Amino acid sequence: MKLLNLLSLVSVTVSGTLAIPSPTTTSSDVNDAFCARLPNPLPSASSLPIIPALPDPFTFFDGRPVRTPLDWACRKAELKTIVQEYLYGYYPDHSLERVTARRVNNTVTVEVRKGANVGNFTTTLAFPANLTEEEMRRHPVPVVINGGGVDTNVFLGSGVALATFDLTTVAMDSTVKQGAFWNLYPGEDIGVLTTWAWGYHRILDALIQVAPEIDAKRVGVTGCSRYGKAALAAGIFDERITLTLAMSSGIEGVGPWRFFFEQFGANEKINNIFGGFPYWSTSRLGQFVNDSRQLPFDAHLQAALVAPVCTSKLPDSEYTDNPTGVKKKRALIWDEGQVDYWTNPQGEASVTYVAAEAVYKFLGVGENVGVAIRNSAHCDISGYTNIKDFMNRVFFGTPTTRNYSDISPYTPFTEAFPWINDAPSRV
Ligand SMILES: *[C@@H]1O[C@H](CO)[C@@H](O)[C@H](O)[C@H]1NC(C)=O
Ligand SMILES: *[C@@H]1O[C@H](CO)[C@@H](O)[C@H](O)[C@H]1NC(C)=O
Ligand SMILES: *[C@@H]1O[C@H](CO)[C@@H](O)[C@H](O)[C@H]1NC(C)=O
Ligand SMILES: *[C@@H]1O[C@H](CO)[C@@H](O)[C@H](O)[C@H]1NC(C)=O
Ligand SMILES: *[C@@H]1O[C@H](CO)[C@@H](O)[C@H](O)[C@H]1NC(C)=O
Repeated sequence: MKLLNLLSLVSVTVSGTLAIPSPTTTSSDVNDAFCARLPNPLPSASSLPIIPALPDPFTFFDGRPVRTPLDWACRKAELKTIVQEYLYGYYPDHSLERVTARRVNNTVTVEVRKGANVGNFTTTLAFPANLTEEEMRRHPVPVVINGGGVDTNVFLGSGVALATFDLTTVAMDSTVKQGAFWNLYPGEDIGVLTTWAWGYHRILDALIQVAPEIDAKRVGVTGCSRYGKAALAAGIFDERITLTLAMSSGIEGVGPWRFFFEQFGANEKINNIFGGFPYWSTSRLGQFVNDSRQLPFDAHLQAALVAPVCTSKLPDSEYTDNPTGVKKKRALIWDEGQVDYWTNPQGEASVTYVAAEAVYKFLGVGENVGVAIRNSAHCDISGYTNIKDFMNRVFFGTPTTRNYSDISPYTPFTEAFPWINDAPSRV
């Protein structure tokens, strides 16, 4: 079960080399010669090459090719390190934390301790109206963890519970490092998007303890705009998240870092976002403000980090890519508004989507990524209606005739992915 062990690993910094580290991994689990090794420390921006197109998903950082889905497991691990180094900051080691949940009716208090430090915040549960508590205990329902502002009908009316929380109680939306997360990790160089992602995950830990109505194998995360960026991070950093719903996310979400389409309105770029919100990311992102083409990743690789990995073509029910052997799939859908120019909707579809889908297809799970384009503005509530069929397919297997690979009115921007026709095919 090489892959199971491999995928249980969260990228962390270890002394010596940055690789695919894990105390539970023996040398026979990971073929070191086979997995790419990253230099340690990773280079600063000035020593990184300028890559004009999207970085090739199928080439390791050291230049070797990715040929098989098992190679992708290695590539995924190195990419997780790369995005933490240059964008997100390093996600904390959860094994050093202890989570205690308390529930009073539908309010759950999540208390997290690390050493002598403690942080707490709350989430509020809502359940589908037509199901009794007894029915849900017998047949637990999927849950979507969200930062508020969702169309509750779309979720509750589909038979999906909601766990709503105020992300600013986890970490203030500010350079001021206050909130439950910062009580545990005072002053660290971690982006607020990552702290918010951590909040989604600690809510899931708490729900597992005190919400027997919830099926912990069908868990979604959502948020819009800055919270859509956080939802994508939440999907990247916890393999238990089975559905990532990133709404109007823009740059630092699924908006490309390199390609812009500004004929109708300006797109947000790295200098705007790092200028306005430097605390959303690690400070190390600042090295790239003059040239985002030195980033060794782009948004298609952030999106690809949500894909499940499997080594052979298995039935849908058989994707086993976590250490407990729980069978699951992971999926990503994003929403975008055609007139929401600041988020670069054309780039999200014609650049990010097409390039990310190539990775999902290579992994045999092309249907696990989707885009839902609407002709309206930022965070328009209709976005939720637009993603509903995708969600119900992932959570309940409900078929849909809607084509979530359809990027119209846009067309693929082929110069962004010169590698796409040489992408390895699935064996
Ligand atoms: C919990 O729900 C019960 C029954 O509806 C109600 O009587 C009680 O006041 C609630 N407790 C709190 C703390 O809201
Ligand atoms: C949460 O933490 C605060 C201090 O930060 C404390 O005053 C409060 O009692 C805690 N609440 C719970 C429910 O643990
Ligand atoms: C509750 O509503 C959902 C969504 O409409 C439906 O799928 C489910 O069958 C309903 N359950 C019951 C027990 O009526
Ligand atoms: C960006 O370019 C400006 C002007 O050339 C320079 O002053 C600044 O140091 C550069 N910033 C970085 C992070 O390289
Ligand atoms: C969905 O749309 C994509 C992109 O336009 C197209 O290539 C594909 O054939 C469509 N799938 C179906 C089932 O119509």
